[in-house]
Amino acid sequence: MNLLDYLPGIPDFLKPGVLFRDISPLLANPAAFKEAIRQLDEIAQQFDYTHILGIESRGFIFGSALAHHAHKGLALARKPNKLPLASHREAYGLEYGNDSLEIQQSTLPKDAKVLLLDDVLATGGTLIAADKLIRSAGFEVSGAITLLEITFLNGNELLEQNRIRHQSVLKS
Ligand code: PRP
Ligand code: MG
Repeated sequence: MNLLDYLPGIPDFLKPGVLFRDISPLLANPAAFKEAIRQLDEIAQQFDYTHILGIESRGFIFGSALAHHAHKGLALARKPNKLPLASHREAYGLEYGNDSLEIQQSTLPKDAKVLLLDDVLATGGTLIAADKLIRSAGFEVSGAITLLEITFLNGNELLEQNRIRHQSVLKS
């Protein structure tokens, strides 16, 4: 099964020139979704981690399924102003705008080793913000995994420059 077949590219969404990857066909196909989680688990096993950080919103879907599958804890990096007890915030830029991520205080044990998880690595801005968020909250980051890396944007290089070890299931 080629998982890329279930992640069609939609040209010029959300902005002209951006090829948006739609995860809906993969989620709607039980075999493809299951295989995506199996392959995410395979790369996650290269990291020493206790908790997954799911990044709102598409990272929640895969983070939740993987945490359940791999018997790990799940923490949530949320978009701003959603958390009553938010303790840390990191702003970042995307191909199509700016955003911020927040984490709730006291959700992780002190010795947590956090594996960042997102559906797509594009410019790397989101994962770098997630890494800063977790470290500024005082926790160890084990690394980052994604389902799909969009290689021409060189996000992986930016992650390396920021000393974030990253693996993706698919590259396009
Ligand atoms: C998309 C995608 C990643 C991020 C990748 O999320 O789900 O989180 O962009 O881009 P980057 O590597 O350039 O940071 P988006 O913020 O569009 O929102 P969503 O997950 O809520 O759909
Ligand atoms: Mg996202």
